[in-house]
Amino acid sequence: MLKIRDILNLKPENQELTVYGWVRTKRESKTFSFVEINDGSTIKNLQIVIEDKIENYKDIIIKINTGASIEITGNLVASQGKNQSVELHAKSCNVIGEANPDEFPLQKKGHTFEFLREISHLRARTNTFAAVARVRNSLSFAIHSFFQENGFVYVHTPIITASDCEGAGEMFQVTTLDLDKIPKENGQIDYTKDFFGKKSLLTVSGQLEGETYACALGNIYTFGPTFRAEHSNTTRHLAEFWMVEPEMAFCDINQNMDMAESFLKYIFKWVLEKCSDDLDFFNARIDNTIIDNLNNIVKDKFERITYTEAVEILLKAKVDFEYPVKWGVNLQAEHEKYLTEMVFKKPTIVINYPKDIKAFYMKLNDDNKTVRAMDILVPRLGEIIGGSQREEDYNKLYNRIVELKLNPKDYEKYLDLRKFGTVPHSGFGLGFERLIQFVTGMQNIRDVIAYPRSFKYIVN
Ligand code: 4AD
Ligand code: MG
Repeated sequence: MLKIRDILNLKPENQELTVYGWVRTKRESKTFSFVEINDGSTIKNLQIVIEDKIENYKDIIIKINTGASIEITGNLVASQGKNQSVELHAKSCNVIGEANPDEFPLQKKGHTFEFLREISHLRARTNTFAAVARVRNSLSFAIHSFFQENGFVYVHTPIITASDCEGAGEMFQVTTLDLDKIPKENGQIDYTKDFFGKKSLLTVSGQLEGETYACALGNIYTFGPTFRAEHSNTTRHLAEFWMVEPEMAFCDINQNMDMAESFLKYIFKWVLEKCSDDLDFFNARIDNTIIDNLNNIVKDKFERITYTEAVEILLKAKVDFEYPVKWGVNLQAEHEKYLTEMVFKKPTIVINYPKDIKAFYMKLNDDNKTVRAMDILVPRLGEIIGGSQREEDYNKLYNRIVELKLNPKDYEKYLDLRKFGTVPHSGFGLGFERLIQFVTGMQNIRDVIAYPRSFKYIVN
């Protein structure tokens, strides 16, 4: 079956073909109608000309309304119109499924994204959400393509876990216990009665399991859903999001940064080449800087600075930040945006963060105060990648776990990696939805995933 994407590239030779799609618009005149149809294969519509000579014209044309699904057989000819090079002159037309114009919600153009979130089951029928879905698809493939070309092994890390990778305690619990009759033993919940026999959670990151495979296979990556019970109601946080996490053995923080930079550039180049129609659309309708920005990013070297340098710059900035800056605090989105938009005007890698604001597994620097963390910040969004060199020294890692009041028993296997043939190793995590926001210019992270979930927010 020919798709509209392919038909639009055909030479019009009056050839007969059949096409299927959903009606976007209809313009009726006395003796014929123009109908624009879309089948999801491209942002572009195919124009159909239906003359009143065709059989049952009157009956058919009243049923051809926005949202209806139709099958058209006709001849492909050069179009006189300026918006398209080809059009289909219908010989026969069959309305497969009607869409009552009094009920179908997508009548007008220019619905707000808030409204469209309420009709998540229909929003993919709009140009914007179909384009997001195609870009999301293409970027998934780009990610696999990059890692496969570079010899990484794709590892499927578990979704249900018993450990907290980030040590931040923001996890969803998985249980089959009856919440009205929770079994207790000495006042404590008796998890031996639970499905797995112990407390179980949804993963916040595949990193810890990824490390175990990197320390056997060399370079691996995982790419899957992760879950965070953060109470953040922002345009860049989801409770369920997808993360790409490569992990590399015999790799230090500098090699990690080089890998992350070439990875992002590869992906941006890919999307510029393979999704040009959709990017043109986003550039025209959502943000007119995205294509230029992506082209520049691909050519230019990322900035690299230390956290301490970043703080010095922010302290000198003549800006009233909502969150005041001093050495030791976490960088907020407003600081990250200031650095990338006002100071460097490009992606910026910040390294060597204070140990107290980063996860337990990061390698301690000789100053004993900072760790080999690296965050990649981009204009408009702030943090898009978080990564680090991992602590490979058994004693240092053990002490850090104890210092942070985590239970070493929960990390025994992780510690074993440092006991048997330990190696310097590093990796990072790219938030997939943030990546899509960045390349499409979409403002709200809820609009780059089909069914968003975040604090007090779930749609079906
Ligand atoms: O910085 P994070 O928390 O790092 C980790 O999870 C590490 N285990 C990664 C690693 O080294 N393997 O998260 C990584 C990225 C962030 O930079 C951000 O892009 C994204 O994941 N992210 C979120 N995206 C959407 N919603 C959320 N709630 C997110 N939290 C993190
Ligand atoms: Mg982070």
